[in-house]
Amino acid sequence: MGAQKVHVRHLTRPVVLAVIILVITAQHYLTGVSHENLALHNIHYLLYFLPILMAALWYGLLGGALMAVLVSILYAPVVFGPVGHRVFGSGIEKALELVLYNVVGWVTGILSERERREREQYRRTAEELQRAYQKLHEQTDLIVEKEEQLRRAERLSTLGELAAGIAHEIRNPLASIKGTAEILQDPATPDRKRAEFLHVMVEEANRLNAVVANFLELARFKRLHCEQAGVNDLLWRMLQIAEFQLTRKNIAVRTHLMPELPEPSLDVGQMEQAILNVLLNAIGSMPDGGTLTLSTCLDQTNGSRKIRIEIADTGAGIAAEHLPHVFEPFFTTKSDGTGLGLSIVKRILNAHGGSVEIASEAGQGTRVTLTVPLDSETGG
Ligand SMILES: Nc1ncnc2c1ncn2[C@@H]1O[C@H](COP(=O)(O)OP(=O)(O)OP(=O)(O)O)[C@@H](O)[C@H]1O
Ligand SMILES: [Mg+2]
Repeated sequence: MGAQKVHVRHLTRPVVLAVIILVITAQHYLTGVSHENLALHNIHYLLYFLPILMAALWYGLLGGALMAVLVSILYAPVVFGPVGHRVFGSGIEKALELVLYNVVGWVTGILSERERREREQYRRTAEELQRAYQKLHEQTDLIVEKEEQLRRAERLSTLGELAAGIAHEIRNPLASIKGTAEILQDPATPDRKRAEFLHVMVEEANRLNAVVANFLELARFKRLHCEQAGVNDLLWRMLQIAEFQLTRKNIAVRTHLMPELPEPSLDVGQMEQAILNVLLNAIGSMPDGGTLTLSTCLDQTNGSRKIRIEIADTGAGIAAEHLPHVFEPFFTTKSDGTGLGLSIVKRILNAHGGSVEIASEAGQGTRVTLTVPLDSETGG
């Protein structure tokens, strides 16, 4: 069916050309030339351009040139015959008309071929572009896939590190619980020592409990349940919770809370936990008193609106060599710390599409900056 259709289409053009030539030539010959029908003759002359132009457009230079020759042959006898000679005289003008047929056939043929070549060139360029685009697409897919593999590998290695960390954190208190239990088993241990060792056991068990609880907090993927919430109110609530420790350690509190701060979308419970972790670190760094400064503001740089919370202390600060490690799980400089506090803060802020930064100098104090985006959908 398809091949037949192509065949028919190939035949249509020659048939159309043949019919046109036949009709014009029949008219031309039947009418002939005389002084009375010169106008009609001129129309036939012009009509002959039609098949020349069509052949040139359809078949290029060869088509145009051949059709011009054919038309010249068909046109000439009447014009240059005895009657024509009588009407047109020497016939130089008529010979020029024949030349014009040929010039038009050639020029149109050349132009049509050039146009066809350009069209072909464009088609090929478009095809190449399409291929290049396809290749780019495939390469992008490959890069995305590799990135995903890399992320998976990273997740696995982080998981491995975490597992090693927790094993270490659990083994130490377990060893000391076992050691003290063995001492208690010994009947020779004096009673006053027994109370002391029991106290150590309880302390170590508490520590174990804290490690496991914090680790679960960090590792468990908690969905965010977000609501519009005021950050300033949240900070006041956390200060109230810490009030006892602040007073006991003689820590002064300063607040620079921006009034009428827009309310971001927050998981209030998780954000309270993040802020409390930062506050407890700050309080822990000022055992002999100091100043705790809480500030909030609206950050509108880079075209996006964020809420910035700063918690600064005048405590011990962080040694330069420790600073790059403070967000690592289990990194701690405290005898009773789990080293998971800041890891949890980071996870919570990241889940909100925000960030946490820490700046510190040993002996000078520490400033923790939390940013929460305002106009964005938080992951849930
Ligand atoms: N405000 C701060 N001042 C001084 N050091 C800090 C401060 N915040 C964090 N650090 C340092 O970073 C370490 C890691 O902090 P992180 O909160 O993760 O764990 P931690 O406080 O040691 O343990 P936990 O949070 O379980 O009590 C701390 O041990 C401490 O060395
Ligand atoms: Mg902490």
